[in-house]
Amino acid sequence: MTTPTPLQLYIETYGCQMNVNDSEVVAAVMREHGYATCSAAENADLALINTCSIRENAELRVWGRLTELRALKRKNPRLLLGVIGCMAERLKEKLLEQEQAVDLVVGPDAYRELPNLVSMAKAGQKGVNVELSREETYAEIAPVRYGGNGISAFVSIMRGCNNACSYCVVPYTRGAERSRDAQSILSEVQLLIDSGYKEVTLLGQNVNSYKVYADDGKTVACSFAQLLEKVALLSPEMRVRFSTSHPKDISDELLHVMAKRRNICKNIHLPAQSGSTRILELMNRKYTREDYLERIAAIRRILPTCSISTDLIAGFCTETEDDHQQTLSLMREVGYDFAFMFMYSERPNTKAARRYKDDVPEEVKARRLSEIIALQGELSLKSKLPYVGKPVEALAEGFSKKSKEQLFGRTSQNMVVVFPQGNHNAGDYLTVVPTRCTPATLIAEA
Ligand code: SAH
Ligand code: SF4
Ligand code: F3S
Repeated sequence: MTTPTPLQLYIETYGCQMNVNDSEVVAAVMREHGYATCSAAENADLALINTCSIRENAELRVWGRLTELRALKRKNPRLLLGVIGCMAERLKEKLLEQEQAVDLVVGPDAYRELPNLVSMAKAGQKGVNVELSREETYAEIAPVRYGGNGISAFVSIMRGCNNACSYCVVPYTRGAERSRDAQSILSEVQLLIDSGYKEVTLLGQNVNSYKVYADDGKTVACSFAQLLEKVALLSPEMRVRFSTSHPKDISDELLHVMAKRRNICKNIHLPAQSGSTRILELMNRKYTREDYLERIAAIRRILPTCSISTDLIAGFCTETEDDHQQTLSLMREVGYDFAFMFMYSERPNTKAARRYKDDVPEEVKARRLSEIIALQGELSLKSKLPYVGKPVEALAEGFSKKSKEQLFGRTSQNMVVVFPQGNHNAGDYLTVVPTRCTPATLIAEA
């Protein structure tokens, strides 16, 4: 007996690491219903676009892509086209009205419903579900790692966000915060270890508020620091990373766990957003510049080798030249190793859109952003120089983009190192001595 040819599922993912992991969950759900993933929309029976709403540009890219896929659908009328993820959640009506070619609109908490919705779409109806949930964590679904390198994987430990940063759409597109059962996280990481993975990144919008309660509903049975330690103890060969930490609740307890466990990578992503306390208050970030710097001091004290990265927004509502200078001075004071840097993009219905005027002119935002980027270039270079000429341990991840004789890997500090392959392979831990560096990369010659 021959097994039936699987249907082909094409997934294109935009946005954050959580979306990448969600696409793997979607692949798992659909695999149970006879779909195998494929790498070109042209070959697909079902094409899903997992979308992001974080900035206007992210949405514009998807609208552009939908025009292309509409054309593809004209050539292949059998193709079902779905929009899933944050834009589906935010723009359900608009998507259904403006894009006749879209057969499915499915929000981030409704992926278990996908097979039913696909059946509906096959029968000629639109398959729509954008309900948010208070419980869904996809806990027992083993993600299908279709796009990965077989070495590092993402594991979502919570969903949603209970913070209310005034500029941010995530609480609207992803709903309320909920933590995933600790045992299911540990089982998933164990499965990765058994399959030869070497690095896991625990994901959440604010991992520090990960919490599962005991049966009484009050006592905390597992905090993030405890979870992190349990994950780290599964195997000394498995590196553990996590993202993102909110500055208002990164605890000393967590820093001590990081210090104690060698395989917990020494990198903390601690988005500051701005260096001005006045702007931070308008952003509703719940910390001041001084609070933030106090947390940086704690990291430096407890984890002297830890690298620190950040996210920054240029040109938030009412930002003055002085506020902007404070962001630049915060950057210098911390000496960030790496940063994601953005121009403020007003998102409809957020608190900032309702209450404040998006009053910094585009060209001023652009100029401030370019100053931030230029400064970060200097800081990134400066942060790498101390590693030149000294042995660093790296986990090899694959061939470098430029040459098939060079591998690239990452240090515990999340710095990219490029080195000659020699007799090493992806997945190996090795020690190399960088001989020079660029702002983005440590480079080791023979
Ligand atoms: N939960 C994470 C980050 C989520 S979004 C955290 O709180 O740190 C990733 C980054 O996108 C944010 O840190 C912020 O720097 C940026 N961002 C979010 N909303 C934005 C907006 N409206 N305009 C510009 N950048 C934004
Ligand atoms: Fe958005 Fe703030 Fe939540 Fe991060 S913590 S997802 S920036 S609301
Ligand atoms: Fe974007 Fe949604 Fe992630 S808005 S950044 S894909 S949570």
